[in-house]
Amino acid sequence: MDASQVTEIRRRIAYETARTEPPDGFPKLSDIPLGRYTDPDLYQLELDRVFKRSWLFALHATELTEVGSYRLLDIPLAPVLVVRGADGELRAFMNACRHRGAPVVREAEGVTRLLVCRYHSWSYDLEGRLVRVPDERDFVGLCKEDRGLVEVRCEQWGGFVFINLDTCAPPLVHWLAPLIRRIPEIADAPLRVVSRKSCDVGCNWKIMAEGFLEVYHAKTIHRSTVAETLDGAGAVMELLTNGHTAMITPYSEKALSGRDSVAGLPRIPGIGELFWTTNPAYGIFPNLITPLEAAGFPFLLFWPLAIDRTRLDVVWFGVDWGTDARPERWDKRLAGFDVVMDEDMANLEPIQRSVKAAAHTGIPLNYQERRIWHVHAALDSMIGRSSIPEALQVPDLLAHYVEA
Ligand code: FES
Ligand SMILES: [Fe+2]
Repeated sequence: MDASQVTEIRRRIAYETARTEPPDGFPKLSDIPLGRYTDPDLYQLELDRVFKRSWLFALHATELTEVGSYRLLDIPLAPVLVVRGADGELRAFMNACRHRGAPVVREAEGVTRLLVCRYHSWSYDLEGRLVRVPDERDFVGLCKEDRGLVEVRCEQWGGFVFINLDTCAPPLVHWLAPLIRRIPEIADAPLRVVSRKSCDVGCNWKIMAEGFLEVYHAKTIHRSTVAETLDGAGAVMELLTNGHTAMITPYSEKALSGRDSVAGLPRIPGIGELFWTTNPAYGIFPNLITPLEAAGFPFLLFWPLAIDRTRLDVVWFGVDWGTDARPERWDKRLAGFDVVMDEDMANLEPIQRSVKAAAHTGIPLNYQERRIWHVHAALDSMIGRSSIPEALQVPDLLAHYVEA
């Protein structure tokens, strides 16, 4: 983030802190229909037209460094495997043998020279080429060149590896352009994965995502945690192209004066002052939120398992500590974050029960919650509004505020 971007954010923080009402012309938003969290057809459209066409975070490049190292992605949309080839490149493939579809990899991760199917031993090299078929003479007209593993788009933004199930999707760097423009410094930082953790929650994936798109709730559910350190009144929201968003919340005076903003951990090289005087959180459409911090940060990933069930993956990144054991300070940092996450999770299943029972009439969003509207509107435009019943649509009322 360059100096002019920081100055502009500071100006916006001052504006947000001083305002007494939403800016002139900010529209009244209609209620978000409850059916958006319960309608099976809309859910299927979200999977088919959004999740299967979007860039989805897979792993960090430092997790697969050796030639032949692979990881089976635990994503509900398709069985996808990422492997480092003999040429050093990471590639993604469907984990489905081209004979009768058995998985070619069964372990969650490992290192191999050949990907050998455990059903009849068809074997693929690290670039996905079919190189060996037992009893090949008995297959009439089999062309091995045509039966390589089906490749899945796999591209990197610095060390962050994303996959896309749509072969026609725009390049990752186009998709992420508004974020690359704002936070280029995190892509090539010398990071490593600090921890990975997952949990399943009984709610629609959007209900979970929405919990991280505003700070309006901090004063209530995070009264003795986040609310102590953040100054929500100054939060700056950005609605970005492709459904991405940003929310930059200044730390409170109290936090800045009394708190060690990096909890004794080393600061990520190359990141600027804004990262230790504010909490800049970014939303990567559709299913990733990352609240950035000076010493390390989590990626929160929301995976739809069913219309009313979502898996949360929390992947933490920090400065690489070399070959030593993980610094103990990380234990405290992660435990503190878990407390906040428990506070966030407590509301989600009850909310799903409310929307399912139509226990209220719709969701009125305020100005502070406008990122939620933007994500819903982006979903509808990616799905195609003509495919969504009018009663369930979220119109593009905030298009005027969207920034590149
Ligand atoms: S299904 Fe893989 S070799 Fe038969
Ligand atoms: Fe929260």
